[in-house]
Amino acid sequence: MKPSRQILITGGAGFIGSSLAERLSEKSEYRITLVDNLLTGTLLHVPEGKHNNIQFIKCDVNSFKDISEVFYSTRFDWVFHYAAVVGVQRTLDNPVMVLDDLTGIANILNLSKNSGVERVFYSSSSEVYGASVELPQNEYTTPLNSRLPYGIVKNVGEAFLKSYRKEFGLPYTIFRFFNTYGPKQSRDFVVSKFMSCALKNEPLIIYGDGSQSRTFCYVDDNVDACIRIAEDGMYMDDIVNIGSDKEISILQLAQLVKAVCNSTSEIVHAPALTEGDMARRMPDISKMRAALQKDPVPLEEGLRKILSNTRFIL
Ligand SMILES: NC(=O)c1ccc[n+]([C@@H]2O[C@H](COP(=O)([O-])OP(=O)(O)OC[C@H]3O[C@@H](n4cnc5c(N)ncnc54)[C@H](O)[C@@H]3O)[C@@H](O)[C@H]2O)c1
Repeated sequence: MKPSRQILITGGAGFIGSSLAERLSEKSEYRITLVDNLLTGTLLHVPEGKHNNIQFIKCDVNSFKDISEVFYSTRFDWVFHYAAVVGVQRTLDNPVMVLDDLTGIANILNLSKNSGVERVFYSSSSEVYGASVELPQNEYTTPLNSRLPYGIVKNVGEAFLKSYRKEFGLPYTIFRFFNTYGPKQSRDFVVSKFMSCALKNEPLIIYGDGSQSRTFCYVDDNVDACIRIAEDGMYMDDIVNIGSDKEISILQLAQLVKAVCNSTSEIVHAPALTEGDMARRMPDISKMRAALQKDPVPLEEGLRKILSNTRFIL
């Protein structure tokens, strides 16, 4: 029998954290602990685990008392630190709460270094690149240009990981997630918002003319790439963009969602947002491709997968 591996996922009742847990739980040797304060996550997302190998603990990672109790009860091998305040509007409306997440990052790193964690995986974001200085956005050559608290916190978070490696020898991998979508995503995000409205034949609202473009990564590709990177010891003390490099405008996305959902929704244009809505964003995903070892799921196929799982989006 393989020796068991203890894995902690913070933000484990969230979209990506719970999807990661579900996939990891397919291996009986993995013992997975999920922590979450249920700010945007929900217990409905917490999987049982294919081998009954997932436990959930309600906990605020920004509270040292809460999260230290979790570390004292289990010695973790891997820590995936995915908890964060997310959502464009929520992060713009609550900048101080966003800045508080720096405390959570410090808590996780201090407890990890003191308890012999093998590697910490951190969910950074495309927002560290800020407004596009160059496209595609490359991990090493593209300057970081974030100006809003959410992107700045992710940037400082990355500096925390590098500093703990340098001073305390704590290994890390930074994932820079670009727009990810899938069945459990909350309706704060454009794909699930459009899907939810399209299925009810309600208007799809686009801010501005819809020419702003994005790339969308199906959550299975995110999870598969991150697990391969962890299991194969890839990209130690390194940074990896995790996303898709197929660009689509928001207007085209609305039209595609309508077609996939066979919807009669109207497409309505609202005034452009004054901050936080970048014109374009596209990652260089050569490093992720090396980990994924297959073609990413095409957008239309991903949207159809969501349709077979609508209980999360209606
Ligand atoms: N989904 C994307 O497209 C995307 C893109 C870039 C970066 N990210 C990052 O990936 C991570 C996961 O995001 P997601 O899309 O799954 O969002 P999500 O909101 O579904 O997950 C985040 C989870 O963290 C929890 N949380 C927040 N603050 C917490 C705290 N102090 N203590 C404990 N739990 C807390 C929330 O309740 C939620 O369940 C986040 O760090 C996010 O910044 C996501």
